[in-house]
Amino acid sequence: MNQEDRVIMGQEQSSDTWQYSLRPRQLSEYIGQEQVKKNMSVFIKAAAERKEALDHVLLFGPPGLGKTTLANIIANELNVNIRITSGPAIERQGDLAAILTNLGDNDVLFIDEIHRLSKTVEEVLYSAMEDFALDIIIGKGPSARSVRLDLPRFTLIGATTRAGAIAAPLRDRFGVLCRLEFYQSHELKLIISRAAEILGVNIDQEGANEIARRSRGTPRVANRLLKRVRDFAQVFGSTEITREIAEEALGRLEVDNLGLDRSDRRILETIVKTFGGGPVGIETIAAAISEETDTLEDVYEPYLMQLGLLQRTPRGRMATSETYRYLNLPAPVKEK
Ligand code: ADE
Repeated sequence: MNQEDRVIMGQEQSSDTWQYSLRPRQLSEYIGQEQVKKNMSVFIKAAAERKEALDHVLLFGPPGLGKTTLANIIANELNVNIRITSGPAIERQGDLAAILTNLGDNDVLFIDEIHRLSKTVEEVLYSAMEDFALDIIIGKGPSARSVRLDLPRFTLIGATTRAGAIAAPLRDRFGVLCRLEFYQSHELKLIISRAAEILGVNIDQEGANEIARRSRGTPRVANRLLKRVRDFAQVFGSTEITREIAEEALGRLEVDNLGLDRSDRRILETIVKTFGGGPVGIETIAAAISEETDTLEDVYEPYLMQLGLLQRTPRGRMATSETYRYLNLPAPVKEK
């Protein structure tokens, strides 16, 4: 299935820009991630009182959990400007130098997908993060010389779906490391109710609960499902989203009780039916279902693992007894 078609993808889609208006602007409006919020509010307060830049922050976790939202909130709470870019967008050292030299004192630079920075750009970032200086080579050959350019004190907020893909020298330069977790169902319910109010949609408690349960722990998915269910409610002639309407709509969208869709089921069926339950390598699964390995690893696997439907082992991916139960298949008998 085309990635753009998937209503349960955590990754941002081009049609998601409407979600920006739903984003909380302050920590007090941000629902969930309680540990991260508690700690961040201390670091923000301390830096603001000292009138210093906040230490560099690395946010990591699966897509759609609010890394960009949190970066915007941090800048807002610090009362500083934020400049937003991404790893792949910074192609050359000069691109990064241009961004850094245009920052104001204590500003936030947000680099999404920071694990995709090129090696040469990453090396420039090291001295910028540590010494707030850029070493630039002017000229070529024997007459080349290095000039040191001072930068304003700034806070780098890096975001990544894979902390493991970040080189140790870069990771070590972040003072604050925050892992974002999948949201609990009751938190998603609050997020859905809040979004419904902003969008002017009526939804009852059970309707919100039904969408929350099937949002795979991800606010971006929850908000997307809310919009689709709203369409069904409207066409069904209902002024309110109830559990019956949510169930009917999500059934038609092929999002099941656990929030899994056809693609998730295909992955599990491939492991079980084609590869005897595994272990099977990620590349093999990707080839079998015509999917990118990165997408499998970043988007599908974290939630399947959280549900206990998939196991990552050194020898490859494996089905669990839960996988067989989910697919309504008899579990294989273990050999003695
Ligand atoms: N919208 C998306 N994520 C949210 C969150 N964590 N809190 C409140 N509203 C949100």
